[in-house]
Amino acid sequence: MSKRARRATIASMAKNNFVAVVLAAGKGTRLKSNLAKVLHRAGGRTLVENVVRACKGIGARSICVVVGYQAEKVAAVVAPIGAKTAVQQPQRGTGHALLAAKRAIGGAKHVLVLPGDAPLVRAETLKALMRAHIESGAAATLLTAVLGDPTGYGRVVRRDEKRVGAIVEQSQLVGDQAEINEVNSSIYCFDLAKLWPAMGRLKPNNAHHELYLTDAVRLLADGGETVLAQIAPDASEILGCNTRAELAEADRTLRQRAADSLMAAGVAIQYPDTVVIDPDVTAGPDTELEAGVQLLGRTRIGANCHIGAGSILSDMTLGDGVTVRPYCVLRSSRVAARAEVGPFSHFRHDVELGEETRIGNFVEAKKVVLGRRVKANHLTYLGDARIGEGTNIGAGTITCNYDGVRKNSTTIGKRVFIGSDTALVAPVRVGDGAYVGAGSVITMNVPPDALAIARGIQKNIPGWARKRRQEMAQGGRAARKPVRKKTRPRPGKRARGKARRRR
Ligand code: UD1
Ligand code: CA
Repeated sequence: MSKRARRATIASMAKNNFVAVVLAAGKGTRLKSNLAKVLHRAGGRTLVENVVRACKGIGARSICVVVGYQAEKVAAVVAPIGAKTAVQQPQRGTGHALLAAKRAIGGAKHVLVLPGDAPLVRAETLKALMRAHIESGAAATLLTAVLGDPTGYGRVVRRDEKRVGAIVEQSQLVGDQAEINEVNSSIYCFDLAKLWPAMGRLKPNNAHHELYLTDAVRLLADGGETVLAQIAPDASEILGCNTRAELAEADRTLRQRAADSLMAAGVAIQYPDTVVIDPDVTAGPDTELEAGVQLLGRTRIGANCHIGAGSILSDMTLGDGVTVRPYCVLRSSRVAARAEVGPFSHFRHDVELGEETRIGNFVEAKKVVLGRRVKANHLTYLGDARIGEGTNIGAGTITCNYDGVRKNSTTIGKRVFIGSDTALVAPVRVGDGAYVGAGSVITMNVPPDALAIARGIQKNIPGWARKRRQEMAQGGRAARKPVRKKTRPRPGKRARGKARRRR
């Protein structure tokens, strides 16, 4: 049989015979958190979601997640990605957790067990483990890793070069077992016909009075069954996140992978260690990311874009050739080709920029649609507005969209000129081609091609400034004289008469 045909046969065996079980019922005491450990995030996803997604790629006939602590919350994360759940209540150890999934496993021949706190494992690694398990016909096949510092992990005690005799937990190490640096990843394949009898014989022989799945390995080996181990080629894949430091390490690794995959797609990244890229983000070739950029959620970036340092984009869609200058915060909005944004722009949500628009520094926007080539270059708030093609919004313009009760909209036509420091009191419309004088407070609609000026009329008083300077100069000298006590001026004759009448 050719290599490819053999792989195909094994893949179809996996589909029909393998169930994947993710153990995710524990609290995670070592994180010192109220949130269940598997709901903590690494690489923009919860730990358990990372694990379930790795299982999606292996062709198992089903995926079951064992839930317990914060069961509903964990179920809410894994159900949408196609996993079933089984409840373990109370949580009495990893062996007890697998027993809780017995009904869900049903009549499958093999189980792939994974811990919910190991988010770095790859589907390829799992497939290789399953293949090795099926080919050897072993009762159990462990994924192990050789670590420089094995502290905290269960150690793999070999019976001989090939076979495993036991897994010994950190707290139960004796003699020179602490020096063993091959560790248990908690990822295993078991032949279920052989596993279930061994599981029935698990005893809570440990300080926590728990049923350890690791003890099933010893029981199988002692009963003469073959237990094999496959050493992970990349030891970092088996990292389990028991502590905050391990969570941070997992996050760093997943971020690095995301940066690597964007670079493989032709994206230039200035300092890959400093960027944060969520797993669903895409970007086109020749796009450049400066230091400290964060691309979050479902952000989609076209080709030839340039994203400036420190900018944070979440759920954004950018066309080709868009420039985002440094320190922009942009959310849930769409920017068409060749537009320029920033520095220091803030899109709260639902901003739509047409092609070649320019949004400058200190511009805040939400729920606005800007046509092609609109410019709003400085110090502006645009909310609940539609602005037509080619319009220029002067510095300091504000759409006054909120009247204290409800939000109202502003409609500005094409090729309009809004002078600086204009307040547009919504609801209001400015017609195509109109002009609004600087400093206006616009409360009424402006017809197309009209000029609207709504501000105090300017008065020039000749010589006033000179006179004032002279007075100031005199006042300044007077101020140096001793200050006389001010007395209230006596009321005039008429006022005195009025006061008398009132009495
Ligand atoms: C476990 C292994 C250890 C291995 C390490 C790898 C045991 C006894 N030890 O230790 O050999 O080196 O993983 O990371 O298995 N869980 C439940 N129900 C429970 C207890 C745990 O569902 O009652 C889940 C947890 O939510 C977690 C996973 O099982 O996702 C592993 O449990 P954890 O406490 O992290 O085991 P470790 O001490 O890391
Ligand atoms: Ca763990």
